[in-house]
Amino acid sequence: MTNKLVYFIGNWKMFGDLTSIKVIKNVEKFYKGFVKYNKKNKIVFCVPDTLINFLTKNLKSKRISIGAQDCHHYSDYGAFTGSVNASMLKNSGAKYVILGHSEKRFEGDTNKLIKKKIESALKKKLTVVFCIGETSKEKKYKKTFSVLKKQIADSIDKKFDFKKIIIAYEPVWSIGTGNVPKSHDLRNIFKFIKKYFKSNYKVKSSPPVLYGGSVNERNISMFPKISEINGFLIGGSSQSAKKFIAIIKNYYK
Ligand code: PGA
Repeated sequence: MTNKLVYFIGNWKMFGDLTSIKVIKNVEKFYKGFVKYNKKNKIVFCVPDTLINFLTKNLKSKRISIGAQDCHHYSDYGAFTGSVNASMLKNSGAKYVILGHSEKRFEGDTNKLIKKKIESALKKKLTVVFCIGETSKEKKYKKTFSVLKKQIADSIDKKFDFKKIIIAYEPVWSIGTGNVPKSHDLRNIFKFIKKYFKSNYKVKSSPPVLYGGSVNERNISMFPKISEINGFLIGGSSQSAKKFIAIIKNYYK
């Protein structure tokens, strides 16, 4: 198990209303005791924009943060019906934003557009959780490494503030399917991503790299031994306090 900070970032997707605060309150209650003997972790819930301000105002623990799941690439106000920019997210209390999620890529986000979104989020001092990952077809044709390389190269600029960037490796074929990659493959992929950052971006150490895709309270036990993994982006299982807490507990078992 790693001695470094471990992230547990929930991605609520299109889930949650005002009553969903009970999920976060329950996690907060558990975490208050837990953090006394294990401080090397960080919890974030990336929620729909409609809940950011409400949840931020009602959170007591500074060790739990609220984030968003996307932002518009334009950082000022503008004629973009239905859109929310990074500055508005920041103003409502968000500290993090997920960008490049495959579900947004399916809706049309290109590497180039994601780069603009990252730029605008960093400008507003949000921490970016930048998602990358190959589809099952790309995996089948052994294109995983070239896909990841292109996603990073096309969206991450050398001038970016790397202290504000977290990478989330989320194989598309794993999201919501119950299938997770083999430990051996994960180790190779995480090594590749970290090495790529060190050699191409002149950073002393790579940004943290998280794993995402069907993480649950059972399969979490396979991850502690993969020391290259700096945490998790958790979708479905983050919508339940019971599951989310069990993931954290079982990771440290
Ligand atoms: P999942 O989603 O945990 O439900 O597979 C992960 C994600 O989409 O970030």
